[in-house]
Amino acid sequence: MVRKLFVAVALLVAVALLAACAGAQPTADQVEIFSWWTGGGEAAGLEAMLGVFAGEYPDVEFINSAVAGGAGTNARAVLASRLQAGDPPDSWQAHAGQEIIGTYVAADQIEPLNSLFEEEGWLDVMPDTLIPLISKDGDIFSVPVNIHRANVMWTNPALLAELGVAVPTTWDEFLGACETIEAADKICLAMGEQWTAMHLMEVVLLGELGPDAYNALWSSGGDWGSPEVTAALETYAQVLDHVNSDASGLTWQDAAQLVANGDAAFNIMGDWVDGYFSGDTAGGNLGLVPGEGYAWAPPPGTDGTFQFLSDSFTLAKNAPHSEGALAWLKVAGSKAGQEAFNPVKGSICARTDCDASLFNEYLQSAMVDWSSDTVVGSLTHGVTANDTWKNEINTALGLFLTNGDVAAFQSALVAAAGTYGN
Ligand code: GAL
Repeated sequence: MVRKLFVAVALLVAVALLAACAGAQPTADQVEIFSWWTGGGEAAGLEAMLGVFAGEYPDVEFINSAVAGGAGTNARAVLASRLQAGDPPDSWQAHAGQEIIGTYVAADQIEPLNSLFEEEGWLDVMPDTLIPLISKDGDIFSVPVNIHRANVMWTNPALLAELGVAVPTTWDEFLGACETIEAADKICLAMGEQWTAMHLMEVVLLGELGPDAYNALWSSGGDWGSPEVTAALETYAQVLDHVNSDASGLTWQDAAQLVANGDAAFNIMGDWVDGYFSGDTAGGNLGLVPGEGYAWAPPPGTDGTFQFLSDSFTLAKNAPHSEGALAWLKVAGSKAGQEAFNPVKGSICARTDCDASLFNEYLQSAMVDWSSDTVVGSLTHGVTANDTWKNEINTALGLFLTNGDVAAFQSALVAAAGTYGN
């Protein structure tokens, strides 16, 4: 009896081994994907898309090379040195607009993806406004996964009610509200490290100048020296007087959390904050109910305008695993991939055919605005200026944040546009 059992087990093992050999897969393929999605609201979105990828390509090993730091400030520096050293990740996160065309395409670092767009039928489901921003001379260079809105003012509704402060619709009203909020020993506007100050700057410029004059700044010959720009920068300086004193040491999540906690009334930041506020606490998010734990409004002067950015993924020139990269890009552009990713990330699909019922109340409002508002691009998140110009603006901004000299700042902005402008 024991002997029979032994023989049967041995047979089973042999059969299993044979089967494993016969069906043996070639060595598992890999794909290395580079992003800056490591933090609250961001990592969970990437994980969700990864879930779809793993389901569709179980044999491709996913190497997540995300580098921490909001807006990619750190990640993009690491990426730049890897590209310079001829060691590209297979695919990396890049913003639609000048970041792609004026930076990676200009440096010949990424491959066109026209045949993928054709095979996948993406031209029928991606918005017409987006395609030119990722194209040059008829070649399409990235796969957009989302649309984020930059101009959102996040508020703490309980705190505003307690202080009797109405949501401001002009910067004058905003500055008035700050007096009341600060008299109650609260922070008026929560802000973080320098890129979040640039984010605030572009929103104030938009609010003060309006969409046409804002757009003109990024076109050839844009007049950065105008009295309107002076006035907008003066408003920006006044708004900066009402931010938390420890801003430079805080991440965007830290700053947003000040609003969630009721320590601050407002935070002007892109809608990745929605992912962070409403996401699962298990994933490092705050688990708040939209409209209850937090609320949102267009920052002063920007109602009716959607200042957008779009995260997309590229295919590296000489990608070590181009097949794996194409598999990843297929998922990134797919309905399933985008429906998994965006409700968690706090963005809406780049595709036009996602199921709106999967999205929360804030994101549903963003979908409506995206389709009806005037659309303009974000500076901080790669749409309006290439890296060289943006870096020049950032250097001038760094000085301005320490010396508050509007005239010197404006001259530096004029010079930056003159030398590096589009
Ligand atoms: C943006 C990016 C968003 C979000 C944000 C904060 O540049 O497009 O997806 O990650 O930075 O890190």
